[in-house]
Amino acid sequence: MDEPSYKVGLQSLQEVDPEMAATIEEEEKRQQKNLIMIASENLVSRAVLQAQGSVLTNKYAEGYSGARYYGGCTYVDQAESLAISRAKEVFSAEHVNVQPHSGTSANMAVFLALLKPGDKLLGMDLSHGGHLTHGSKVNISGLYYQSFSYGVNRETGMIDLDNVRKVAKEVQPRLIIAGASSYPRFIDFEGFASIAKEVGALFLVDMAHTAGLVAAGVHPNPVLHADLVTATTHKTFRGPRGGMIFCRSEYAPAIDKAVFPGLQGGPLMHIIAAKAVAFKEAQLPGFVAYQEKVVANARALAKGLAAEGFKLLTGGTDTHLVLVDLRSNDISGRDAEALLESVSITVNKNVIPYDPKGANDPSGIRLGTPTLTSRGMETGQMLEISSLIAETINYRHENDRLDKVRNRVAELCSAYDVYNF
Ligand SMILES: Cc1ncc(COP(=O)(O)O)c(C=O)c1O
Repeated sequence: MDEPSYKVGLQSLQEVDPEMAATIEEEEKRQQKNLIMIASENLVSRAVLQAQGSVLTNKYAEGYSGARYYGGCTYVDQAESLAISRAKEVFSAEHVNVQPHSGTSANMAVFLALLKPGDKLLGMDLSHGGHLTHGSKVNISGLYYQSFSYGVNRETGMIDLDNVRKVAKEVQPRLIIAGASSYPRFIDFEGFASIAKEVGALFLVDMAHTAGLVAAGVHPNPVLHADLVTATTHKTFRGPRGGMIFCRSEYAPAIDKAVFPGLQGGPLMHIIAAKAVAFKEAQLPGFVAYQEKVVANARALAKGLAAEGFKLLTGGTDTHLVLVDLRSNDISGRDAEALLESVSITVNKNVIPYDPKGANDPSGIRLGTPTLTSRGMETGQMLEISSLIAETINYRHENDRLDKVRNRVAELCSAYDVYNF
């Protein structure tokens, strides 16, 4: 019998851990065999996958390019410098930190850099489309800081800046946050910036969802108006799972110090390399066309769903996502999510503003187009998918009709391959 080797293994995943290899293969099949319409998800390129799976995972590099706490950083310095210069160019930013492990840690770094515990922050109400990290009482942003919120207008579903101004004047926050997880319209960043100025607050935009649209110029760029901008790299931006922070130069030292050593240790250098690849991809000609198509597809989906009689929050979309109010369809968001999953259409249940029901069984669903667009689908497919969604929800007790939907979803999925390397 061979001696057990103490050297690093060079066998394949399949050889070392067939159980995990099979699990990953099943997930790959799921991504292939479902119409994935989770607005915060996307498909990364082969190049991004390669960088993420590279030997850069082996390297410790606490600190920043040229000022690390470890030797041997020549190439990871190069990788991080490339990420930084490309990100600054893509987003027209004075400064960027590409080390945050996620959108959440990017937001935490901003708070750590600029707020003291107990300071007041004002963000969009979670139940109106905001994010947990914008002051929710169950998140550190609402536990360590005094958090206040603004919402959307009950009739229009839109953010009403007069109301934001009123709340800001009452609260006198140290930080105002704009940005959302489920708001389908452009946000008036300039308007927010002037309110922040009026009340002497710092202004943070969290563009986690819209970073890809911003990079392509199909969405207003908050970097031009906000003191600080946080983002994820894995949603519309179509990069690896991670976060980043843009800011004016004056905040750069505080932000960098908050990320490391304030919140994190060694940066994920393989992910930073993959971020650099995604920034490069954002400068290639196809990227603008992709992001334009993401929005055109979301608009087509909204049009199709409205024509099928669904009620849409704000009546439509400017972005990559659509929010459906299911209160007149006699089905909850949770049941709609499960029903659509049963025909291989993946969406998520979502609270709607002023939702009479709770977050576990809310009244809406959220649908997005980034993943389907990455598969090459166009507005014609979006219109067809809106009919398939209507058929599923309206005829949910008729198995024959659901089977027909399943067959058609399977045909669409095989016509638009995901990873066929
Ligand atoms: C607006 C917003 N900010 C922050 C985040 C958090 O990102 P992550 O999941 O990478 O922590 C999200 C994620 O959905 C988000 O929608």
